[in-house]
Amino acid sequence: MSHTRVRHEDASDAKVTPRTLAEKKRRHEPITALTAYDYPTARIVDEAGIDLILVGDSLAMTVLGHENTLSLTVEEMLHHARAVRRAVRRAFLVVDMPYGSYHVSAEDTLRNALILIKQGGAEAVKIEGGSRRAALIEEMTAAEIPVVGHIGLTPQSVLQMGGYRVQGRSLPEMEELLADAVALEGAGAVALVLEGIPRELTEQITAAVKVPTIGIGAGPGSDGQILVFHDAFELAFSSAAKFVRSFGDAGSLLRQGVDLYRDAVATRRFPSDAESYHLPREVASRVKTPTAPVSLAS
Ligand code: KIV
Repeated sequence: MSHTRVRHEDASDAKVTPRTLAEKKRRHEPITALTAYDYPTARIVDEAGIDLILVGDSLAMTVLGHENTLSLTVEEMLHHARAVRRAVRRAFLVVDMPYGSYHVSAEDTLRNALILIKQGGAEAVKIEGGSRRAALIEEMTAAEIPVVGHIGLTPQSVLQMGGYRVQGRSLPEMEELLADAVALEGAGAVALVLEGIPRELTEQITAAVKVPTIGIGAGPGSDGQILVFHDAFELAFSSAAKFVRSFGDAGSLLRQGVDLYRDAVATRRFPSDAESYHLPREVASRVKTPTAPVSLAS
């Protein structure tokens, strides 16, 4: 595909890398991030000048219709990552490691991460979990695999957590999450996603680490913000969480469009003559016009 690319006028053309994100943190410039799972949305997001695009495992729910993220496989993630890769020129492209793909052994983790990088075009992979992942992140970093950490409400822990709950609301939990962030930074994580934590804790973590923090449901105090594309543009079929803001109702727009199309076809107003190909005149003059089909319904 090679349609002309549009670039948002405010966005520099320079490729976004972990260094760009770190620079933005240093300059207190907000980092913008969104998820994308396919070519058209990834192009729209990239061309808008969003800094980081995540092929999130929320894919399992938003696009594949699953109840949670747990059943997503590396192969499914790879399929979507490759479509997004073809679209993205500027943004830093992060791909989630699915549940189970980094839980068995370090060797298995490295192999799966390398598949997502070599075949999926990921520039970093994201894994969920705090201090207990530090040793793994250290090994991945040593193997030249850039890793984004993800702490707080970690959806892949849904079975253990017994649901999706805001994390870090008590002093011991706050301390634990702060220690998690410091441990992941020490292990070499290039950025940290902070999900579903109180805004005060986000501010503390963001001040405590040099690595950029990107929040979702974590208040305004992180270095950047990320939302799930289908939440932000009303394409999700579930009720929105408190932290979600609608930035456009693509769902209604698509419904209206599909209604218009159905009516136009059902009433033979689509396609028109102008939307049809024609025979060259010399061929058309030798072709008999068929008689109108007889309707069986009377
Ligand atoms: O999978 C995802 O979309 C994510 C975001 C919630 C950060 O991990």
